[in-house]
Amino acid sequence: MDTRDYLNRKKDIVDKALDTLLPGEDEYPQTLHRAMRYSVFAGGKRIRPVLTMAAAEAVDGNGDDVIEVACAMELIHTYSLIHDDLPAMDDDEMRRGIPTCHKAFGEAPAILAGDALLTYAFELALKGSRKGEEGPAIRAVGEIARAAGSMGMVGGQIVDIESEGKAVDLAMLEFIHTHKTGALIRASVRSGAIIAGSDGEMLDSITRYGEAIGLAFQITDDILDVEGERDLIGKNTRGDEVRGKATYPAVLGLGESKRRAREWMDIAISALEGFDGKAEPLRCIARYVVERRW
Ligand code: IPE
Ligand code: IPE
Ligand code: MG
Ligand code: MG
Ligand code: MG
Repeated sequence: MDTRDYLNRKKDIVDKALDTLLPGEDEYPQTLHRAMRYSVFAGGKRIRPVLTMAAAEAVDGNGDDVIEVACAMELIHTYSLIHDDLPAMDDDEMRRGIPTCHKAFGEAPAILAGDALLTYAFELALKGSRKGEEGPAIRAVGEIARAAGSMGMVGGQIVDIESEGKAVDLAMLEFIHTHKTGALIRASVRSGAIIAGSDGEMLDSITRYGEAIGLAFQITDDILDVEGERDLIGKNTRGDEVRGKATYPAVLGLGESKRRAREWMDIAISALEGFDGKAEPLRCIARYVVERRW
């Protein structure tokens, strides 16, 4: 299977759907809708929505049937990036190859664009989930909400910020990474699989896969901050060290971080042992997550 081709094809579907689903730039209040679209269409790999579609396919469902839920995951992710870059948080000036949302629009519009993307995500998730049976639909939306909130991504972000400049142990580091990044990735695959009708052991395997690539993804993000190319990843590098961030390279060194990222990749692929060829995209994405250069 050609991973790049698969990712590009799905990314295209996601981009078109996002364009249709988001309020237009000329819709009132324009500043808000422009700021939302600015960040959503700045680029981005779309790995979370693609995972939602690939997980649905892996359990014998149809990727296109979960498109709204997939888009919802990307909107929550983009909101998290807008807020992550704010001066009060990581204070970053570049994202997805262009100035961050608050640099382009000011802080208040950036905060509000993030708020609006988050809330609209739930409207969309609910719309998309109604295609499934009511039970799974409600479960999936509930899981997405939990993953985005204080017990998930936002919980990881606060510990990330509070850990700046402090010595953290591996357990704390793992907490930060599994929450700030892992929670949404886990919910991306689980929501796709749940809406496609999966349950029991199959869903457990998908969950283990999601947890493992979530951790591998953030370890790789940390590694790219140290040795990635700014022009390729579209954001400034080396900021983690300057801010004293809790990262794998800071705690374990680069070599061991790379080893662990690969170890989690292997764990993710092993979790799919009982799956057939329909899970091949998920296997390829697991490799891509650690081998990527951006
Ligand atoms: C960056 O996520 C922030 C993390 C949670 C690690 P991505 O690397 O998926 O960013 P985009 O969506 O491609 O810009
Ligand atoms: C971001 O982690 C996690 C979330 C946005 C939830 P980072 O702060 O490492 O992400 P980048 O490196 O700025 O993309
Ligand atoms: Mg951050
Ligand atoms: Mg950041
Ligand atoms: Mg980072």
